[in-house]
Amino acid sequence: MRISLSKFNCQIVLSSEDLAPFADFCSKNQGSYSSCALLADPVVYALYGESVTSILKQYNIPVHPLLLPKGEEAKSLATAENCWEEMAKAGLDRKSFVLSLGGGTVCDTAGFVSACYMRGIDVVHIPTTLLAMVDASIGGKTAINIEAGRSLVGAFHHPRLVLVAPHFLTHLPARELSSGLAEVIKASVISDPDLFDYLERYMGDLLAKNLEKLKAIIAKACKIKTEVIRADEKEKSVRAHLNYGHTFAHAIEKETAYKRYTHGEAVAIGMNYAARVSRLLGLLDDAWLARQEQLCQQAGLPTLLEKTISTENLLAWMSRDKKAVGGKIALVLPRAIGKVDLHSDVDPSLIRQVLNGRA
Ligand SMILES: NC(=O)c1ccc[n+]([C@@H]2O[C@H](COP(=O)([O-])OP(=O)(O)OC[C@H]3O[C@@H](n4cnc5c(N)ncnc54)[C@H](O)[C@@H]3O)[C@@H](O)[C@H]2O)c1
Repeated sequence: MRISLSKFNCQIVLSSEDLAPFADFCSKNQGSYSSCALLADPVVYALYGESVTSILKQYNIPVHPLLLPKGEEAKSLATAENCWEEMAKAGLDRKSFVLSLGGGTVCDTAGFVSACYMRGIDVVHIPTTLLAMVDASIGGKTAINIEAGRSLVGAFHHPRLVLVAPHFLTHLPARELSSGLAEVIKASVISDPDLFDYLERYMGDLLAKNLEKLKAIIAKACKIKTEVIRADEKEKSVRAHLNYGHTFAHAIEKETAYKRYTHGEAVAIGMNYAARVSRLLGLLDDAWLARQEQLCQQAGLPTLLEKTISTENLLAWMSRDKKAVGGKIALVLPRAIGKVDLHSDVDPSLIRQVLNGRA
């Protein structure tokens, strides 16, 4: 499957032939690129670094590998600065490109590094987690975290190519697979009831890493994301829907210092709490809530927070979220499977009730 975001000069290729589309890209661009900075997750580099670098060498593109710290630590200004210094020392110029190899943290950091280096050079993503395949690698959002909040600093910078090769999921730990499934569940709730049904039906196969079934949900989720991006790149309208569950999730991750939950786990909890706010507002009923909760649990995801986490701290982080305006908390709330809306001034007392387990 190939999706073209031609407006952004971006190709998304879902490949059954491993790295062949990347070899194609290198072949077509041989001579146009002077060199490549390969920004990689250390675990992933050990598994696949060699096969990626050998393709670059085959097409005479000099490659400079830079290993990033694992996980959220990668998404820092210090890491980005270190990449820029190393890239400059290695002589990377405006005709160089950045290649990311890893999960969403690597996509976000590599995207940001490429958006700023020499005021912007090309970037190619080879996502290796389910979460990055269906979400973080697509849409041009790049980000680092700062003390005041998660993904608060970044730029829009679309990749030239996103190579989605599901065989990379072979070594992905089960917990990370579940984390990616949270973003697929999110995609289904915001716009695709058929995908939701499919997930309910085949969750066992997906968790067992049935590659055909994984390919099917990746294709559907990538299509949903690209359609949203086509309609609204800069999040003036429907793109905000992709943030379903995320206002809670970002606050939870920040409050627990990115240590207790994976991103997808925090999103699953966030979707459950957002749906509970919807229920309080009379937008949906108990059965709907139970169905979403059950699907998340089937995927091995948590749906409730541990009691030790401070509600007031979470509310404070939520009021500083990117979607908040003037401190008013904005939430994407579901009203049916496939139908969500952005509510831009949600009464904090409703959120407090939900977080305190009273609704
Ligand atoms: N830019 C966007 O639009 C967007 C969208 C969604 C999420 N994100 C960001 O994505 C990040 C989360 O990404 P993530 O869940 O991929 O986390 P991650 O990048 O931390 O990867 C998770 C773990 O999986 C390991 N791993 C990665 N690929 C592997 C493989 N193939 N085999 C074995 N192990 C592998 C990594 O070493 C890491 O420990 C968050 O920072 C979030 O903000 C961005």
